[in-house]
Amino acid sequence: MKIVVIQGPNLNMLGVREQNIYGPMKLEDIHAQMKAFAEQNKLEIEFFQSNLEGEIVDRIQECIGDADGIIINPAAYTHTSIAIRDALAAVKIPTIEVHLSNIHAREEFRHNSLTAPVCAGQIVGMGPFGYHLAMVGMTQILNEVAA
Ligand code: DQA
Repeated sequence: MKIVVIQGPNLNMLGVREQNIYGPMKLEDIHAQMKAFAEQNKLEIEFFQSNLEGEIVDRIQECIGDADGIIINPAAYTHTSIAIRDALAAVKIPTIEVHLSNIHAREEFRHNSLTAPVCAGQIVGMGPFGYHLAMVGMTQILNEVAA
């Protein structure tokens, strides 16, 4: 079973950008923890980060026949991208959306997610631990698929 982790714009800046909101942890450190969890649970995992909407759409499309589950933080595109939502709907692969911050407690323009309605679930406001929760949730979903 393979999970593809897709990280949207500016998440490559974690550890540098707005530490009061996103904390000090770097993306590579979050990914190292996810990789360790994947290895313990005998899952394959691959990471992809892009600042470009079209590249994210391409990577989602490439998940057909490649990934059993997707964990995605579409970052700012969460609130604007019909294209990313449509790509997730098209591939029909179980997807969990993660946000480090609690988007519902922030500016109004962050309250709505265009992508969450085509996901199995959404985890917000738990910081980097949210990615661990997503791994646990995805493991459960993949076990159900395999059963
Ligand atoms: C974010 C929340 C988005 O509103 C924001 O644009 C981000 C990060 C989060 O993980 O909290 O870039 O997705």
